[in-house]
Amino acid sequence: MLHIKYTYKYMASRIPLKYWCSQVCSRLYSNGSKIIEIGGKKYQPDGNFTNVTPSMISLTGRSLHLKDRHPVGILRDAIENKLNSTDNAFLAYNTYKPVVSTYENFDSLGFPKDHPGRSKSDTYYVNSKYLLRTHTSAHELECFAKAKSGETNKPGFLISADVYRRDEIDRTHYPVFHQMEGCRIWNRDNTAYTSNVEPGHITKMREDLKKLEQQLHQQQTKVVVEDDTSLDGNPKQNYMTDLEVDLCSKHLKRSIELVISDVFHRKLESLRKTNKDASEIPTELQVRWIKAYFPWTAPSWEIEVWWQGEWLELCGCGLVQEDVLKKAGYAPDSTISWAFGLGLDRIAMLLFEIPDIRLFWTQDERFQKQFQKGIINTFKPYSKYPSTMRDVAFWLPQTENVEKIHENDLMEIVRNAAGDLVESVKLVDEFVHPKSGKKSLCYRINYQSMDRNLTNNEINALQEEVRNELSRKYNVHLR
Ligand code: DAH
Repeated sequence: MLHIKYTYKYMASRIPLKYWCSQVCSRLYSNGSKIIEIGGKKYQPDGNFTNVTPSMISLTGRSLHLKDRHPVGILRDAIENKLNSTDNAFLAYNTYKPVVSTYENFDSLGFPKDHPGRSKSDTYYVNSKYLLRTHTSAHELECFAKAKSGETNKPGFLISADVYRRDEIDRTHYPVFHQMEGCRIWNRDNTAYTSNVEPGHITKMREDLKKLEQQLHQQQTKVVVEDDTSLDGNPKQNYMTDLEVDLCSKHLKRSIELVISDVFHRKLESLRKTNKDASEIPTELQVRWIKAYFPWTAPSWEIEVWWQGEWLELCGCGLVQEDVLKKAGYAPDSTISWAFGLGLDRIAMLLFEIPDIRLFWTQDERFQKQFQKGIINTFKPYSKYPSTMRDVAFWLPQTENVEKIHENDLMEIVRNAAGDLVESVKLVDEFVHPKSGKKSLCYRINYQSMDRNLTNNEINALQEEVRNELSRKYNVHLR
């Protein structure tokens, strides 16, 4: 299975390297001056930034995570319930609109100005100030501010939403997917540091952790945890004591392990019921904590679970940078918090055994009728329609001042022309002409519908549109 980036590592290492020519890009999209309307709000496009397309905008109102008979909605509900089962500490925000400011998505979280996550090849911009959120962390600051203002008396919150990223096309990638963000807050009892009694928040953290550990202990599917707890290369923040870091990270890690043990337990149970050879089904789950880097947490980690012969990355998390808390209105040294971000679609695909992510978006009743509120069942494929391949090969332009084209731009052209009728797009050939130095690329587009047979005429027309758009927008020489 392909490695998928649902919990997108906002790490410096993820620099897009897929630019095919080095000329400075003049203008990526020319949407003219037509006003863009998303979720009832109007935005002025900007020729230098706007790359959100009508087909993307049409997906912004679907809210699959709120549907109680959809795999993504069922999973969201299950995780919320599990997290709240210990001490009912989390308030759920599930209806934030997808357009956020660049400040919310990046700056509020400490993303450097030149961070690759900000690039137009990875992110859908509405204009220079607004974009389709690329992660639910975009709402962290706002929710921290709500918690600070006393608008809620809960010490934690969860944010679930659809998130948007320009990406490749295959069975596990879709430009929209869903995440759940979780944060937990403790107010520091600073007065106690002058006396000999244990500060109130330490006692509270110990109690909260104990409750969580007890619950984890009662889970039917045990998690075997590999965790190098050292902070080498993953330093703590100065304002926190070693004890606070220890308690807060344990509470964070046990909370996530609880969710994983619950969700995977349901899957293992259903496998046990349907498999003849139940002895092959594992009775415990292996997980491991890996050091990570995110601009708004320190220290930071990712968790991976061993599932069907490979390590799956499920979730990024860490202790929230004090800077974010201060921006939300908390006084210096007053607050301790953890945060996590979890990709829902990949887990839902695995639990419900959904073979192609496009199925989540189909309106076909044969898909929609298979799921019920609160139940994790195995999807029964209703039919597999034949697929048809078409190659598109082209020379990249060599002249100066032409559009710089990124692989994701090609993906976007294909999505715009064919939408969910494309199963995958893969680079199958690439070479440089020895004499002219010109570069040629060949991509294979696999057309296949989830719901019906496609005719040859229909596919030819789609392919023609892809070819025309490629040469029109990027001046490539079709072969
Ligand atoms: N927003 C990150 C992503 O999309 C996931 C994440 C990592 C969220 C660490 C967090 C966190 O809150 O602390 O990859």
